[in-house]
Amino acid sequence: MKNRMCWLATLLVFAAALCAAPAHAEDGYDLWLRYRLLAPAQVQHYRPHAAELVAGDATPTQTVTRDELQRGLSGLLGSAIPLASTVTHDGAIVVGTPASSSLIAGLKLDLQDLGDDGYLIRSVVANGHAITVIAGRNDIGALYGAFQFLRLLQTTQPIDRLDLRDAPHIKLRVLDHWDYLNGQVERGYAGASIWDWWKLPDWRAPRYTDYARANASIGINGTVLNHVSSGATILTHDYLQKAAALAGVFRAYGIRVYLSVRFSAPIEIGGLKTADPLNPQVQAWWHAKADEIYALIPDFGGFLVKADSEGQPGPKDYGRTHADGANMLADALAAHGGVVMWRSFVYADKPDDDRAKQAYQEFKPLDGRFHANVLLQSKNGPVDFQPREPFHPLFGAMPHTPLMMEFEITKEYLGFATHPVYLGPLYEEVLAADTLAHGKGSTVAKVIDGSLDHHALTGMAGDANIGTDRNWSGSDFNQANWYVFGRLAWNPTLSSRDIAEEWVRMTFSNNPAFVKPVVAMMMGSREAAVDYMTPLGLLHLMGPGHHYGPAPWDASEAEADWRPVYYHRADRQGIGFDRSRSGSDAVDQYAPSLAAQFNDVQQTPEQFLLYFHHLPWNYRMRSGRTLWYELVAHYTQGVEDVQQMRDTWQHLDGYIDAERYRQVAAFLTIQQREAQWWRDACIAYFQSVSGLPLPPGFAPPQHPLAYYQSLSFPYVPGFSSW
Ligand code: GCU
Repeated sequence: MKNRMCWLATLLVFAAALCAAPAHAEDGYDLWLRYRLLAPAQVQHYRPHAAELVAGDATPTQTVTRDELQRGLSGLLGSAIPLASTVTHDGAIVVGTPASSSLIAGLKLDLQDLGDDGYLIRSVVANGHAITVIAGRNDIGALYGAFQFLRLLQTTQPIDRLDLRDAPHIKLRVLDHWDYLNGQVERGYAGASIWDWWKLPDWRAPRYTDYARANASIGINGTVLNHVSSGATILTHDYLQKAAALAGVFRAYGIRVYLSVRFSAPIEIGGLKTADPLNPQVQAWWHAKADEIYALIPDFGGFLVKADSEGQPGPKDYGRTHADGANMLADALAAHGGVVMWRSFVYADKPDDDRAKQAYQEFKPLDGRFHANVLLQSKNGPVDFQPREPFHPLFGAMPHTPLMMEFEITKEYLGFATHPVYLGPLYEEVLAADTLAHGKGSTVAKVIDGSLDHHALTGMAGDANIGTDRNWSGSDFNQANWYVFGRLAWNPTLSSRDIAEEWVRMTFSNNPAFVKPVVAMMMGSREAAVDYMTPLGLLHLMGPGHHYGPAPWDASEAEADWRPVYYHRADRQGIGFDRSRSGSDAVDQYAPSLAAQFNDVQQTPEQFLLYFHHLPWNYRMRSGRTLWYELVAHYTQGVEDVQQMRDTWQHLDGYIDAERYRQVAAFLTIQQREAQWWRDACIAYFQSVSGLPLPPGFAPPQHPLAYYQSLSFPYVPGFSSW
């Protein structure tokens, strides 16, 4: 008998363990939409508020909203939620719009100020029952509300007395894919392109739907399918049909397709002799192309253009301005409601000038010259997505032009997929930066959400980190960068810490013993990377072309302004790029009071010190120590911070599934090894230039400088023969 009891007990424990274990291995595919069964106390608390679901299915968006709620609630609560045509129980969830639901219409909810995409979630009494209503003015608002409702459960928030309303601050919330039609992803560290162009339009991989779900869950409503430097083939009829097939998958999720277009397409695929924007034949060609696109994709979003930049053709080839080029394309799209996102990322190889100044010089005089459906898309900083740069001086300087933010989600300069670096603090730092354009409080966020200069057309783009890797982003922690981009594009004033916490809870666990240290680790991770790569305002010290690892000595690049030595300007006397009034005078591209601050070395924040000033190695820092000491101290701190991150993670074994735990642990090992490499290589190099001894107490580099200089990396991902 005793044996039988023992056996039974073992069986029960085994069965319980089976129930607790995830249904399938955690490979990261489900992103933050895992919907795993919540703890029993939470299930008990939530179930009375999810007694039945009243949801329409008259449109594709209504259907996917209903499906997502069913999928999410059944996963989180462990049993299917019954569908009902009207409210029959307390605890019903009603989702829809006044047009799709007579019950919602009857509630006379205050939906007016929600805009096209906003939603309201409220606990109300209807038909004599206590219910939760999720409503938007349009289907898409209701879908966003459904995702928010699920997020509340996923992050274990109370749902019994809800009164939430939210609407996006920014109109176009767009992912830019740097994907080529041959499947390569420029600066992609997560495998190949997810667009299987060869099999499109006939085969629409299920993954496209999951991509759309993930994006809709964070409010992303646009996707540029191809890289900004792509050829013209994407505009041929065959490829437009393929793009139309993708648009067909995304439509129900409120996501519009956009394309990067090559300015010289009229020559390459149109048989014209010129692409001059003022030539009537060229204009007619683009009009006809736009008509063709809209016949296939009626809700097509528009064009993204990289022109006269890094070898790409553009209007300057014909002596025309960027405004001439952008307006010509914008006119072709205007009748269909499309927009042009024209990039400001332009610079020419002028070794004696300052690359950081060139976009401003080019575009500032064109303020007010762009047509109404043109946005100027600017990278967050004036150089190129470095671990830290000041905000781009165009923000706040072009009041008559909608300025669109471009962030890089893929970590080209921040350790690829294998350095767990959370980009939320970088994005937040830029968005919260004060341009002082109209006095205090003129933040970059207010420039791009249109409130500063009263623009209705607003946008934020993120260069995607998505590929065919099972976990989409090359690592579990890189998913957080996709997530935080979407959340900040929805509301650029959200806190990156709150977003990190949301993401950790949805992606890994709600256990505070896990959440707290992991959020702290994420929040410190970007500063750690700045310290071990490019502290005190240094930038662009990465290896030539591929941008992997340190190469501050490198002068091999064809263009002067691609070379690390161009940026740090270290010599026997000192280090840094003089952008003050006695140097390149880039400071005067900022609003006068900010320019004065950056011009004065004493007032320049130390995090931007060597970005704005060239200083002697023995310059006294605020700490009282020399610049050389502080530089070595920052490099060393970065390595120690990564060691700390590894220690934190080591204590978290057992809180989550072994699969993802192990991968993060392995990547932290890579990060630590490479952080050490960065520190040692940079210190060895700068020491060779300055001739100074290491400050006391700091370990010397593990190898001589020549060793670091001898390393080569033939197959770096994201960079090959495109
Ligand atoms: C960087 C990046 C390129 C990219 C370019 C751009 O230079 O290294 O890969 O094409 O930015 O944004 O156009």
